[in-house]
Amino acid sequence: MKKILITGAKGMLGQDLCPILEDEGYEVIETDVDTLDITNLEQVETVLADKIPNIVVHCAAYTNVDKAEEDLETARLINSKGTENIAKVCGKFGITLVYISTDYVFDGTKTEPYTPKDEPCPINNYGLTKFEGEQAVQKYCEKYYIARTSWLYGHHGKNFVETMISLADKPELKVVDDQVGCPTWTVELSNGIVELLKGEPFGIYHICGSGSTSWFGFAKEIFSLCGLAVNLKPCKTEEFPRPAKRPEYSIMDNNKICRNWKTALKNYIELRCAE
Ligand SMILES: NC(=O)c1ccc[n+]([C@@H]2O[C@H](COP(=O)([O-])OP(=O)(O)OC[C@H]3O[C@@H](n4cnc5c(N)ncnc54)[C@H](OP(=O)(O)O)[C@@H]3O)[C@@H](O)[C@H]2O)c1
Repeated sequence: MKKILITGAKGMLGQDLCPILEDEGYEVIETDVDTLDITNLEQVETVLADKIPNIVVHCAAYTNVDKAEEDLETARLINSKGTENIAKVCGKFGITLVYISTDYVFDGTKTEPYTPKDEPCPINNYGLTKFEGEQAVQKYCEKYYIARTSWLYGHHGKNFVETMISLADKPELKVVDDQVGCPTWTVELSNGIVELLKGEPFGIYHICGSGSTSWFGFAKEIFSLCGLAVNLKPCKTEEFPRPAKRPEYSIMDNNKICRNWKTALKNYIELRCAE
């Protein structure tokens, strides 16, 4: 049985990914900052030497995009240095590494979907530090998958779907309509990772919901699926200033790895309502 070690297993993605990998027959070793702090190279080496996994799926990250603007040091320590530590040790032991990256490595100036061959050019600190992580993976590992995802939501974390539902009772809700991207359910991403590990060639992949929408379109679909009548209004990014700049155009070509974002969202909302 193949052993697979997960970093950041207590995060939003990790909590959905681990049971899916177990169902696929992997022996899953769950770690998070309390058992494997990725910023500590010595600990990374000790834990990986002890567990000897065949594969590491590296989900741990500093994910607060706005906070990263004022705290580049911490974002860089976790996303760049932490990933470098994981990549160095995976490279040394010949472990296959799956690194979860982001659409925010791109600047959003394209007018057609980003492919894995497009050159990253991040416009915020989060994107910059995740890109530095990608560079470390490519430098230190031969057996790697870089899996870029976007607009992630799931049962186990703070995300746009849950935020929208929690705001549904507001008299009016303004949501930006001039940023477009591909909403992705953590379960879709997890299934995509399983597919990669079935023998896809090593390299960079985009694993995100097929099709695309704006944040406004995403919110509209959420409320429609939940049967919530909300006074939803589209607005411009300037009306909703945030510390971190976001790419305007964040659509990635996913090579049909995932289902359409609306189909996946429907599935998520149905499961959520059944709970
Ligand atoms: N969320 C999105 O919209 C999105 C979009 C594109 C890509 N991604 C990428 O997808 C991956 C998973 O995201 P997610 O939303 O599941 O993130 P998440 O919920 O924030 O989970 C990240 C996990 O990593 C842990 N962690 C933080 N610092 C660590 C350290 N030094 N050592 C070990 N673990 C540490 C966190 O612990 P604490 O909670 O205690 O800090 C948390 O459990 C990340 O690589 C992220 O960059 C996310």
